[in-house]
Amino acid sequence: MSQSLDAIVPHGGHLINRIATPDQRQEFLDKAAHLPIVELDERSLSDLELIAIGGFSPLTGFMGQADYKTVVDQMHLSNGLPWSIPITLSVSEEVASNLKEGGLVRLDSPGGEFVGVLELTEKYSYDKETEALKVYRTTDEKHPGVKVVYDQGGINLAGPVWLLERQSHPYFPKYQIDPAESRAIFREKGWKTIVGFQTRNPIHRAHEYIQKCALETVDGLFLHPLVGATKSDDIPADVRMRCYEILIDHYYPKQRVILAINPAAMRYAGPREAIFHALVRKNYGCTHFIVGRDHAGVGDYYGTYDAQYIFDEFEPGELGITPMMFEHAFYCKVTEGMATSKTSPSSPEQRVHLSGTKVRELLRRGELPPPEFSRPEVANELIKAMKTNNQ
Ligand code: ADX
Repeated sequence: MSQSLDAIVPHGGHLINRIATPDQRQEFLDKAAHLPIVELDERSLSDLELIAIGGFSPLTGFMGQADYKTVVDQMHLSNGLPWSIPITLSVSEEVASNLKEGGLVRLDSPGGEFVGVLELTEKYSYDKETEALKVYRTTDEKHPGVKVVYDQGGINLAGPVWLLERQSHPYFPKYQIDPAESRAIFREKGWKTIVGFQTRNPIHRAHEYIQKCALETVDGLFLHPLVGATKSDDIPADVRMRCYEILIDHYYPKQRVILAINPAAMRYAGPREAIFHALVRKNYGCTHFIVGRDHAGVGDYYGTYDAQYIFDEFEPGELGITPMMFEHAFYCKVTEGMATSKTSPSSPEQRVHLSGTKVRELLRRGELPPPEFSRPEVANELIKAMKTNNQ
């Protein structure tokens, strides 16, 4: 069935596929020994994968200077389509000087495995502070996203890419559902409206509440935890995925939920990343996208609802996916249920909300967070994971 019958068309009109065909793959393998090599880091490997499977449609490769500039300055590609995060491959001047524009570059994984090919069209330098300020809204090197920019090489390599082979995920093969497949699943289920949910944290009841509020008004929920690189103190993806499985088993209507992994790396760019997260989920076939409190934020770099306000900077309909905004959710002792200040008459002391730090403290001591905050089955799994990690 054609993509035009899907609930939503991919960003830019059609789904990009940059996975080498068996013939192309053989051709690249034959040439591999003679090609210059660039070793990708974890983030650029995720980016390569997402470009190849169409998660970053309409991108077919790492951005050239024209797109890079309009994305950083105006949150649009040079062809006018919205795009909020630069997708770049940065290397040192030394590495760049050995590469010829117009030639092929062999892309290796951080472990040295041949994973893809870049048709190098352009090499350009860029201003790191400008990128930090515009994309991350800060030049503070303590910001984990800014730190990556400051630590990476000063030259961007650009051009179309090919992924040599789509390998199944080493830990979550069952949940590796690429955009073409998620679209097919939604079609098969007859869903006309699908809400996507981004997360990088263990699931708590506020997450569950906003997901279910959204699901009350759409046909299906696409739970899409990010499993690419995150900062070292975030909870590892395998633990988070187990929590999702447990929660779905006990508390969700299974026929209305699809759990899948998003292989992307986290940027912690708050508002800009919320737009980016929405566009990626549009490519996976979602018509709606949840944006709650401090989406993709870190520390106190962003205001609680900045990631919602940024959607107003686009023309109505320009993004093509509808954000579903939620205020800070908590357990309300007055009404004895989950709520936000929009729906609860409570005063702050009548609300149960715990910070991530507080929850980690409790779990480390082997104590369960209150059931108003976290489902006990999920909390038990987190305690178990902490014990194993500390052994
Ligand atoms: S994020 O970096 O992926 O945004 P997290 O996994 O904590 O972090 O959040 C996933 C989604 O849930 C985001 O849209 C976030 O805004 C939202 N969210 C998290 N906690 C709450 C809460 N207490 N109330 C409302 N929304 C929330």
